[in-house]
Amino acid sequence: MSNRLHEKIALVTGGASGIGLGIVERFVAEGARVLVADVQDDKATALEERFGDRIAYRHCDVTVEAEIASAVAAAAEVFGGLDVLVNNAGASGPPMTALDMDGDAWDRTQALLLRAPMLATKHAAPLMAARGGGAVVNMASIAGLEAGWGLAYGVAKAGLIHLSKLSAAELAGLQIRVNAICPGVVVTPIFGMAAGLDRAAAESTTDALSSGAEQMQPLRRAGVPADIAGAALYLASDDASFVTGTHLVVDGGLTVGQRISWNPEALLPIHLALLSELAPEEASA
Ligand SMILES: NC(=O)c1ccc[n+]([C@@H]2O[C@H](COP(=O)([O-])OP(=O)(O)OC[C@H]3O[C@@H](n4cnc5c(N)ncnc54)[C@H](O)[C@@H]3O)[C@@H](O)[C@H]2O)c1
Repeated sequence: MSNRLHEKIALVTGGASGIGLGIVERFVAEGARVLVADVQDDKATALEERFGDRIAYRHCDVTVEAEIASAVAAAAEVFGGLDVLVNNAGASGPPMTALDMDGDAWDRTQALLLRAPMLATKHAAPLMAARGGGAVVNMASIAGLEAGWGLAYGVAKAGLIHLSKLSAAELAGLQIRVNAICPGVVVTPIFGMAAGLDRAAAESTTDALSSGAEQMQPLRRAGVPADIAGAALYLASDDASFVTGTHLVVDGGLTVGQRISWNPEALLPIHLALLSELAPEEASA
């Protein structure tokens, strides 16, 4: 590691698990001190023990503005300020469609994935401005770029990409950069929990998920939290000092185009139709 966040103070929401944990580990390895804000007290407290005075934990439900404000204030109290905010806390959305969406479930998803990053940015910006600027990294998703990953979740992530652009414009005068990351499929407990498992059970599924995840994109390996941590490090660091208002897709090529563009075995319906016309025995085999 190369100390790319030397002397930087970061706040990472949802830092106790998955992608957030990967970011916390990488940021500490690069010299940062990190305030972890999450609702998993046992896991995050263990992080404090593991990393000593490089990490502080505050219980923070990001859907409650007062708890966001306290976590931001804690970064200043414990470490002396704030340079980097990573809005990462999240969960899958309700499995409902445009035909059966429940309004309350919709609101809960928007509160977690869209309202919370907006409020955290509001509370963090003055502290960053006081130190001459800073960086906000919003954890969006390829779900914000294309259909197929859930209605409420996808709309929230699309909103987060746009929030990043708008707040980049509004905060540039304070030397605060705002960018988003759009991960593809990254093996974490989020998938097991979306399937209805409790967190402990979801955590035990990640090895099994990896073999399926290898087949999801042109780069035939499972995405892992460290892949996203590398992108977050870039956007948080001075290497990205002229980068703001954009989103970085980190998906192993999942969104390059149709599956057939990278997997010749994946036939389109039109190919199947042609095959059944020209070689009916082969098509029905
Ligand atoms: N895993 C993927 O494939 C993937 C892809 C695209 C985007 N993402 C996004 O990455 C982010 C992290 O997800 P993950 O896959 O690491 O899942 P995860 O379940 O491993 O981690 C999510 C973390 O957020 C915390 N959290 C949940 N609700 C919270 C709340 N109200 N207040 C504070 N903390 C809360 C959880 O306790 C957990 O530590 C999410 O925003 C998710 O939407 C994940």
